[in-house]
Amino acid sequence: MRVDVLTLFPSMFDGPLDESILRRAREGGYLELRITDIRDFAHDAHRTVDDRPFGGGPGMVLKPEPVFEAVESLRSPGAKVIMLAPVGEPYRQETARSLAKQDHLILLCGSYEGFDERIREGLVDEVVSLGDYVLTNGALPAMVLIDSVTRLIPGVLGDADSVTEESFGEDGLLEYPHYTRPAEFRGMKVPEVLMSGNHGEIAKWRKKMAERLTAERRPDLLVKGSASDLASDESER
Ligand SMILES: C[S@@+](CC[C@H](N)C(=O)[O-])C[C@H]1O[C@@H](n2cnc3c(N)ncnc32)[C@H](O)[C@@H]1O
Repeated sequence: MRVDVLTLFPSMFDGPLDESILRRAREGGYLELRITDIRDFAHDAHRTVDDRPFGGGPGMVLKPEPVFEAVESLRSPGAKVIMLAPVGEPYRQETARSLAKQDHLILLCGSYEGFDERIREGLVDEVVSLGDYVLTNGALPAMVLIDSVTRLIPGVLGDADSVTEESFGEDGLLEYPHYTRPAEFRGMKVPEVLMSGNHGEIAKWRKKMAERLTAERRPDLLVKGSASDLASDESER
């Protein structure tokens, strides 16, 4: 997959995407990442890319010309253009799953007050919000999106199960808790069932724990009605 990022802060991308699975994905040719400075498409010697908002108010707004020209220079047939913005659709694992099927993403990272609205109207396929909070600029949200999408590209993770058996998977639940050696640590014991070797019982325990965790912490993920039943099921703690 090719990913182009348009940003005013290219150096923010140095480091986080050069480690671990992301590094391997890039080296293995699964992810071709290019970071472009929007200022390279400015029209004046001062590399101006923003201006005051029509109608008044605080802050500066990203001008349409440099962003249109940058996207037009990078776009391939079928490329999906995504704007990062707090006013977008909430970003979820299912968004990541669907984006992982694309060949080419172009991510628009805003700064200041954000983008001139004509950029969304004329260029953008999806507006995506990483959460109900406001960040300084779009670099961190873009990196989160790139990370979450890249690990879903087939072949990037060695063990296919690590994608299927995790939070927000097909069952929509949070993942069950994990334990490793030692079997007892500072008086805290690993649940017996996990050491029983009985795979059927282990699977049942994990399912129950996943449902319970989800009911307690994220009842919004459960279908209405079952959440309160699961949350109040204290009997098997
Ligand atoms: C300071 S924010 C602009 C906030 C905007 N004035 C508003 O109130 O919705 C600057 C840029 O950071 C990025 N950004 C901030 N918070 C974000 C979020 N929750 N999700 C995605 N992008 C975000 C966007 O690219 C945005 O254009």
